[in-house]
Amino acid sequence: MNSTILLDVVGVIGAGQMGTGIAQVLAARGLRVILSDRKFEIIERGIGVMNRSLEKQVKSGKISPEDAASTLARIETAVSLEPFRAADFVIEAAPEDEEIKKAIFRKLDQVTPVGSILSSNTSSISITRLAAVTSKPHRVIGMHFMHPVVSVPLVELAKGMHTSDSTFQRTMGLCQRLGKTVCVSQDRPGFIMYRVLMPMINEAFFCMMEGVGSPEDIDRGMRLGTNAVLGPLKLADSIGLDTCLSIMRTLQHQFGDSKYRPCPLLVQYVDGGWLGVKSGRGVFYYGPGAAENMAEKANARRAATADASAINKGFAAKALNEPPSTCGADPAAVSPHAELGYMLRGADHGGDAHKHMMRVLHVASGMGSAPANRGMRC
Ligand SMILES: NC(=O)c1ccc[n+]([C@@H]2O[C@H](COP(=O)([O-])OP(=O)(O)OC[C@H]3O[C@@H](n4cnc5c(N)ncnc54)[C@H](O)[C@@H]3O)[C@@H](O)[C@H]2O)c1
Repeated sequence: MNSTILLDVVGVIGAGQMGTGIAQVLAARGLRVILSDRKFEIIERGIGVMNRSLEKQVKSGKISPEDAASTLARIETAVSLEPFRAADFVIEAAPEDEEIKKAIFRKLDQVTPVGSILSSNTSSISITRLAAVTSKPHRVIGMHFMHPVVSVPLVELAKGMHTSDSTFQRTMGLCQRLGKTVCVSQDRPGFIMYRVLMPMINEAFFCMMEGVGSPEDIDRGMRLGTNAVLGPLKLADSIGLDTCLSIMRTLQHQFGDSKYRPCPLLVQYVDGGWLGVKSGRGVFYYGPGAAENMAEKANARRAATADASAINKGFAAKALNEPPSTCGADPAAVSPHAELGYMLRGADHGGDAHKHMMRVLHVASGMGSAPANRGMRC
């Protein structure tokens, strides 16, 4: 089936990290987009992020200024779902909370045309249960983009119990149009990607809490040892620690297995508002514009790693994967040791238990005197 002919308007719900990236990718491929959130201020912030991402693509010569302008021009904004009456396809990217998503799907069931497809970018919530609150569950499907959406080539598709073949094929067609590669999962908690990834991130938090290694050693070990672009702790910061916690709770609740219990330190960080890149602080500290800079660096590393393996020059990949402070590529960046010191000294960090844990890590990681009061620039 040729989805490029059938699709014209795509509605995106949620102008957060994921919704913004999804809207940008859709508009860049010529689709008209309606981007909706609860408040215009939130949407404006998302459009600002998109604008900066497009400007960087123009500067690097990947797209022309006209392409950037026409991408933005294809995006309309809304603070209600009423305009979704015109949508052929909807991608919901609201927070990872089943009740919020169900309320949205109930409303979508009422306003969208009967032939449209309703997809969710959920990382872990049952597609079958979301579909069950609608009157036409055959048109509901899981469409799980990865962060940062603009550069990560994968979309995980999850077929719910009611999802029709036609819904699946049309969603595959949209993925192709976006230039994404698909992996297909059964509708199980966490699907494939986060069922495997989240317990690893959770275990990295346990290692940090127990002082098994410093955050930088945990990340460096896992990054270089598994040839990954980011270590699990920085990856968790990039995903959002609140999202990671919600997913662990879904896995724990749905499987009823204590092996999925969230690490208490992860819970404490979220309770304390340390949500990762999006709040400026998570395991690590981030300055303004961190999300975009981090996405760019990850892209550069990804591209460099691919090049390096293609020409079989392992040393090139290693140099590019070293922290900037050791390879000397970015003198403005400071090592995560300094970052840990920042957290140790800062007057605004969490409770006594956390301070104690940080002291343990400080000793365990063999840090010397208090480093400069700067966070890592990502
Ligand atoms: N962050 C990641 O790396 C990642 C990766 C893959 C999938 N996901 C999934 O994508 C979804 C969104 O994650 P995110 O990281 O973008 O979260 P986010 O917190 O950055 O964004 C969520 C947005 O939804 C908005 N929102 C809340 N209630 C709403 C409502 N009723 N109607 C419209 N908008 C509403 C919020 O204002 C916010 O802007 C989650 O289901 C998450 O599991 C996240």
